[in-house]
Amino acid sequence: MHGSNFLQARLIISALACAAVPALSIAADVPAKSSTNPPNNVQIERGHYLVTIAGCNNCHTPNYIAKGGKVPAKDFLTGDKLGWRGPWGTTYPTNLRLYFSEITDVQWIQVAKTIETSPPMPYFALNAMTRTDVLAIYEYIRSLGPAGEPAPKSITTDKEPPQPYVQFPMK
Ligand code: HEC
Repeated sequence: MHGSNFLQARLIISALACAAVPALSIAADVPAKSSTNPPNNVQIERGHYLVTIAGCNNCHTPNYIAKGGKVPAKDFLTGDKLGWRGPWGTTYPTNLRLYFSEITDVQWIQVAKTIETSPPMPYFALNAMTRTDVLAIYEYIRSLGPAGEPAPKSITTDKEPPQPYVQFPMK
């Protein structure tokens, strides 16, 4: 949520705040899979904030850590080919831009509250979030639209993964 559109949207929201008007949508080009109310800028802004402070980009955006977060927004959350290898095998951060284009908000709430993945995904952080925050993350990531390729499939412990990968202790 950068630049003048966002600023303009905020101004409109504050101008209309006391009139209880329907939510604004800036995600009109995203397929309508959301089954509750249309997203609004407050939700999208909150989702952006949460994704930033919860560090979702750290793993789900290529080069995000290495470049101190200075990665073009078009690459945000497009998944990564950097593997994470340990006693669980080798896992790859999912392309969340594609993932969120194929899931409804109701499904996502269910997933976020119950999901258990292999490491290093901090699924327990998602499980601990409020429904409101989980929904805000949904609306933010969907507002970015689908992009990129699916991440590689996870690899079992017995197989040597291709480079590059992060190596955890094997016991
Ligand atoms: C430390 C790295 C790391 C961080 C931080 C991280 N993830 Fe993940 N995430 C992963 C990996 C790796 C996987 C794949 C896990 C597996 O294959 O079991 C994953 C999987 C997921 C999945 C499951 C997708 C599927 O294919 O079923 C979701 C949803 C997800 N992450 C969302 C998030 C969100 C939202 C955040 C921020 C709150 C986040 N992740 C932070 C590494 C991370």
